[in-house]
Amino acid sequence: MNIAVNKTRAWKKLDGHYKTMKKTQMRDMFAEDDSRADKYTLQLENMRVDYSKNRINDRTMKFLFNLARECRLEDKIKAMFAGEKINVTENRPVLHIALRNRTNTPIYVDGENVMPKINEVLAKMRKFSEAVRLGTFKGQTGKKLTNIVNIGIGGSDLGPVMATEALRKYWAKDINCYFISNIDGTACAEVLGKIDPEETLFIVASKTFTTIETLTNARTCRKWLVDALGEHAVAKHFVALSTNEAEVRKFGINPENMFEFWDFVGGRYSMWSAIGLSIAIAVGMDNFEKMLDGAYAMDQHFYHSEFEHNIPVILGLLGVWYNNFFDCHRYAVVPYDQYLQYVPAYLQQLDMESNGKFVSVDNEYVKYATAPVLFGGAGTNVQHSFFQLIHQGTEMVPIDFIIPAISHNEIGEHHEILVANVLAQSEALMRGKTVREAAAEMTAAGKSKETVNFLKKFKSFEGNRPSNTIVLKKIDPYSLGMLIAMYEHKVFVQGVIWNIDSFDQFGVELGKQMALSILPELENNASGIRHDSSTTALISYIKKLRK
Ligand code: F6P
Repeated sequence: MNIAVNKTRAWKKLDGHYKTMKKTQMRDMFAEDDSRADKYTLQLENMRVDYSKNRINDRTMKFLFNLARECRLEDKIKAMFAGEKINVTENRPVLHIALRNRTNTPIYVDGENVMPKINEVLAKMRKFSEAVRLGTFKGQTGKKLTNIVNIGIGGSDLGPVMATEALRKYWAKDINCYFISNIDGTACAEVLGKIDPEETLFIVASKTFTTIETLTNARTCRKWLVDALGEHAVAKHFVALSTNEAEVRKFGINPENMFEFWDFVGGRYSMWSAIGLSIAIAVGMDNFEKMLDGAYAMDQHFYHSEFEHNIPVILGLLGVWYNNFFDCHRYAVVPYDQYLQYVPAYLQQLDMESNGKFVSVDNEYVKYATAPVLFGGAGTNVQHSFFQLIHQGTEMVPIDFIIPAISHNEIGEHHEILVANVLAQSEALMRGKTVREAAAEMTAAGKSKETVNFLKKFKSFEGNRPSNTIVLKKIDPYSLGMLIAMYEHKVFVQGVIWNIDSFDQFGVELGKQMALSILPELENNASGIRHDSSTTALISYIKKLRK
């Protein structure tokens, strides 16, 4: 039994400390201490994490580190890396770190070293991705396969979508990647309408190989291919990424064309596994392995660094500070890089599916908030959408800003303008603008006294709004690996503090189960389920419209 986090000594200290810190202004703390940025900045190779624009001081950090210690974070990190079954509800180890264990130190699960089978799949991915890229693995009619269509959803989609987009500059010139995830027929129709079956490789990505969206989409794509090229073509145009060989066979994909992974890899942690095949084909296996190298560097940092210098630990604890003491249950991630546009969507699953839980690993209802709502989008676009609320809304929203120092597309002044914006946003959020400053500014601009008095509150910014700024040298496979592994471990840290199982996802089951009961009713068969009057009326209304 773990101690409930809200009963720890550190929690009580933080509770008391919050009462002082809620009144403390960051701009005053910066004015009082020239070394604040230095003190609260961490560097790992080419990644810099400046967390100085947070509502913290040394006491805050001390209490937060104590909290981590009281929650036995160090033991839990060790347990994950040692392959212990920390996913208690599913009785599984959690070993995405083994997928990028680049020194091959043995990691045992039930007495078996998992590294040989991981390396075997990596070798198979290398062979296959190179053959597709070189055109030696051809389609049924002898043409090179240049359209790569990943069919998957959730963790079997978001990682590949996010990483291929992030690394678009590294794609082979003649290769195009497409992603079909939604069960909405539009997703299939839009992709199939653009591609030539003779040049298309379908990658069916599903850990369980039972997910209705993926299997329905895969069947539609299979039929489309067979109608064009015949049944024989399936062997040349379909591969599967899964843990479930029996279902892969049942679907009609030869297990030779299957790339395996294992139950110890969670769906939302699987882009480092065979699930990353589309990434490997797009950017080449050498680059895929550089991404693993970057993640490995972050794993090592996370495993070995003292909490006081540990990036994921500190980011995780800052999240707890806002979520549980400031009652900020929203959190934004804003990459200032077009290639990172899907990072927020990826992190939504990572964070919210991992830590959106209300039962602790000790089978008790938790009595404190767990995962916040995560949202975001690429800057500067989002400055013109939700940033109004970030600056002047009634609730504080902590933000992570991510910016590469060097762009892949250094055109004119674009990148300087981008960098100026990200730095301006974090400074503006921290500093704010008082009513008096707003009034003085308008007076200096020659506005009438009446206008100044009327507008001064509207034009003020309370400031004191926190952010982290993560600077990378450039978005490359290595830095992307570091960045994503950093967030994985941050989520892990928070799961430990909140004493929840970050690796199951029972919350997605009920809706799936009920959809299966509604499906026959839409097809005019009784399901035997008695719905509420709203659902019954909606079913009959939609059926009437579809007649
Ligand atoms: O949404 C639930 C979920 O199980 C995710 O955790 C997972 O990433 C996704 O569905 C897809 O599952 P699978 O890879 O088994 O098709």
